[in-house]
Amino acid sequence: MPQLIAANWKMFGKLADIRAYATDILTASGHAELLICPPFPLLEPFAQALAGTPVALGAQDCHAAASGAHTGDVSATMLADCGATHVILGHSERRQHHGERDADVAAKVSAAMAAKLIPIVCVGESEAERDAGQAIQMVRDQLLHSLPAGFSGILAYEPIWAIGTGRTPSPSDVVAMHAAIRSALVEQLGGAAAGLRILYGGSVKPGNAASLLRLPEVGGALVGGASLVAADLLAIAECAPRV
Ligand code: 13P
Repeated sequence: MPQLIAANWKMFGKLADIRAYATDILTASGHAELLICPPFPLLEPFAQALAGTPVALGAQDCHAAASGAHTGDVSATMLADCGATHVILGHSERRQHHGERDADVAAKVSAAMAAKLIPIVCVGESEAERDAGQAIQMVRDQLLHSLPAGFSGILAYEPIWAIGTGRTPSPSDVVAMHAAIRSALVEQLGGAAAGLRILYGGSVKPGNAASLLRLPEVGGALVGGASLVAADLLAIAECAPRV
């Protein structure tokens, strides 16, 4: 399976950026799959800019309900209606700043799957948890409680201390964590776990992408800051191993 290079624009970007960005990323050589996850207001214009291309479109969150009196929220069906095929769920910024717990994430994942979206479920430890030697156990627990029965989708390992800091875990720590995530997925999902991608996220840049993307069990990258510059996203995608 080709690797997936997913751009998480977070709360950045504006309408005027879309056309040039879409034109640039469509020059990608195509051996990695590309996914762009802009803020909600840019989804539909991005869907128009990317229509008929192999670049996929995703959102960064959804509500667990299909509709209702939830001021300010957006449902998974609305995302699908705007042309999204993926949705990032359980990002550490949502867990930290919006109090999302594992059970909330699991409910959102179920809603996304019901809307035929592919959920990208984020897990990752804090620096204190890593320093205490609890990173793997913590991530296993997060996985266990953040994935609903019958889960199908993508995982993203994003150590909180690596997000936006320029720091990354050592290759051996990434390999150990991705292997632990795979084994936890097999325990939970059995044979269905085999084909699921596990992305790495946290300070992925053109300069370090090759060393991260060549590691066993790394199925691609979830890229924050560097994804805002099309040339940097392309440079990262070019580091994906050819299959
Ligand atoms: P950075 O690439 O900016 O560290 O962000 C990573 C991230 O949070 C992607 O979801």
